[in-house]
Amino acid sequence: MVVGSGGREHALAWKLLQSTRVQEVVCIPGNGGTAQLERCRNLALGMNDFEGIGRFALVNNIALIVVGPEAPLAAGIADYLQAQGLTVFGPTQAGAQIEASKAWAKALMTDAKIPTAAAAIFTDADTAIDYVKAQGAPIVIKADGLAAGKGVTVATTLEQAISAVEAAFGGQFGAAGQRVLIEECLTGQEVSVLAVTDGLTIRPLLPAQDHKRIGEGDTGANTGGMGAYAPAPLATPALMERIQQEILEPTLAALRQRQIDYRGVLYAGLMITPAGDPKVIEFNCRFGDPETQVVLPLLETPLETVLLACAQQRLAELPPLNWTAGFASCVVIAAEGYPDSYQKGYEISGLPQATATGALVFHAGTKLKQQQILSDGGRVLGVTAVGSSLQDALTKTYAAVEAIHFQGMYYRRDIGHRALSP
Ligand code: AMP
Ligand code: GLY
Repeated sequence: MVVGSGGREHALAWKLLQSTRVQEVVCIPGNGGTAQLERCRNLALGMNDFEGIGRFALVNNIALIVVGPEAPLAAGIADYLQAQGLTVFGPTQAGAQIEASKAWAKALMTDAKIPTAAAAIFTDADTAIDYVKAQGAPIVIKADGLAAGKGVTVATTLEQAISAVEAAFGGQFGAAGQRVLIEECLTGQEVSVLAVTDGLTIRPLLPAQDHKRIGEGDTGANTGGMGAYAPAPLATPALMERIQQEILEPTLAALRQRQIDYRGVLYAGLMITPAGDPKVIEFNCRFGDPETQVVLPLLETPLETVLLACAQQRLAELPPLNWTAGFASCVVIAAEGYPDSYQKGYEISGLPQATATGALVFHAGTKLKQQQILSDGGRVLGVTAVGSSLQDALTKTYAAVEAIHFQGMYYRRDIGHRALSP
């Protein structure tokens, strides 16, 4: 069972179904892409209907439940389902705090001496504004809680910083913004390292780079992610070793010290500073989206073997993960207006032609209605291709993207540019 409805969940379901041992995947609630996947079906339950999900899983002997998004994890879905005797890949509510409370995560990092931006925490606007004025810009303002990717402002001026503080305490993010972190602004290049863990052992997947901004040249508003590629050449084997020693291992140790049995993905969003040091920008408690759409197509070890080993605390027994040589790139096709308001319900054409090029078309926000795929979200599709080089992967990806059409569709034409330009 895969819980969620985005491109990440379509990629998880697709990859799970490649394992000979996986008979069927049920997606809750899934999307138009998972509805069309062979041996996959959607079940119209809410992601927060823990009781309904648990009952279905028990009656149908579901062997493994993989939870995609952070919201149900932060609401305790893993705790609930584990208590029913079900096997779950995804951390408990206590573990999910690493994403659900930036203040909690920062305290853990400070205690464990994990390299990260210096930060101070505030619960009222006046004290926060005094602090911002004393520090000066650039400075980063973050709502403590989950804010659907919108809670962070990288302020280049004092005015921006002050209005971000006022917006958070003014209720823009609800309860999530009643506590605010003010952070040192880091510079450098970002890389996402998704690691799988069973609470005792932690192993990184291939490093990926995400493109968070809506506009080409990494400009404009932050989004959930407009494209990605893997492996990110920036994260050399030597750097990956440092990330393992300086970040992943000590974070897992700090979780254990807090009596947290963390079984799932620990996603480290890292800044590689100009001096070449990795620092944590944020942790997530789940697979990245769209990073998953480029990492999983390169994984040769059966996914269900890896996830079950984590859920059953046997990761140390697993041989090293096997990866396809080469690169994968993903371009997200979004609705006009995203990440602000946008329309849904447009007919999407060219999907069979895109797939015929050999590319993978993961659905992010679509639905199947009377045999027609309709747009049903802000990020609509994620088109992925694998190639022998990053350039090769990108050429194939864009060829497939160009076969697809719906009204107002938007995508960035410069995915991967940083790794290509010298
Ligand atoms: P998040 O919503 O936590 O993923 O953060 C969104 C983006 O804000 C990150 O991907 C970074 O580009 C940027 N960011 C967050 N924290 C910092 C920081 N301390 N310094 C510089 N940029 C940051
Ligand atoms: N692509 C960023 C995230 O999944 O948080």
